[in-house]
Amino acid sequence: MYGNDFGGDQHTRHEPDRPHDDRAFTALLAGEGRVEPRDDMPEGYRKTLVRQIAQHAHSEIIGMQPEGNWISRAPSLRRKAILMAKVQDEAGHGLYLYAAAETLGVDRADLVDQLHSGRQKYSSIFNYPTLTWADVGAIGWLVDGAAITNQVPLCRCSYGPYARAMVRVCKEESFHQRQGFEILYTLSHGTPSQKAMAQDAVNRYWWPSLMMFGPPDDDSPNSAQSMAWGIKRFSNDELRQRFVDMTVPQAQALGLTLPDPDLRWNDERGGYDYGEIDFTELFEVIRGNGPCNTERMAHKRAAHQAGAWARDAAEAYAEKHARRTESVA
Ligand SMILES: [Fe+2]
Ligand SMILES: [Fe+2]
Repeated sequence: MYGNDFGGDQHTRHEPDRPHDDRAFTALLAGEGRVEPRDDMPEGYRKTLVRQIAQHAHSEIIGMQPEGNWISRAPSLRRKAILMAKVQDEAGHGLYLYAAAETLGVDRADLVDQLHSGRQKYSSIFNYPTLTWADVGAIGWLVDGAAITNQVPLCRCSYGPYARAMVRVCKEESFHQRQGFEILYTLSHGTPSQKAMAQDAVNRYWWPSLMMFGPPDDDSPNSAQSMAWGIKRFSNDELRQRFVDMTVPQAQALGLTLPDPDLRWNDERGGYDYGEIDFTELFEVIRGNGPCNTERMAHKRAAHQAGAWARDAAEAYAEKHARRTESVA
């Protein structure tokens, strides 16, 4: 899961070893060709991808926290097993994405450092708390649903390793969305208080999930370049509309209401109109003032520190293995 609601900076270690040939690159993109790691590419293209893939990876990893919070309290063994598999999938998504970023000449340890020091961001959606079990359903249905809407077009992204990683990620996200829907369906067809709990979760997660698509198109200065580079295939507002149109009938099937009095079908446009999004809230959360920003980062840094022994052991093993291979040779 991930959103594209922020910018961030990154540094790079990669120096192009030959002058960039812009005409060849443009022709490759025009022919819908894939750019591969060793291909010539503009420095801006490479930096944009590093930033986007890193933020995506960080979001997958931080996204494990709000749901991980409910593993020990899942209402049944079946629910617990499903939620564990889901959270584990998110870790896997983070790993594919860090690996995809590394093909662009950056180091995963550097990217993680930049997250820890606040120089790179993750999707703001994960700075909201999970107050009840129904929030696990709302996250699966809405947050993973928004992630799928964002990520399906990325399967056709011009950068090969990123596009290929997205194919598997999207298949797993579909399972995540489905499990969220099923949790909410069960609750909304349960007792009145279970249904109220499901409705409350949807009320809290609806607007933040619309914000996952980023600022409105008029306010999204880097989008045009990303579209020209074939990284982005649709604008923020187009993707948001697609998500709304997909989700409204699903809410009806759930028997739940989306908390927007202005939501109605527009026959002329062939899509749903929706109310105005309060982006001041989004920008506050991005600035670090969301309900759980501090908690998420503190937990992440502590987990990284606690895992130092595993990284040291892996490194020592790799060194030992390399020495043995050398002496045999
Ligand atoms: Fe994911
Ligand atoms: Fe997911």
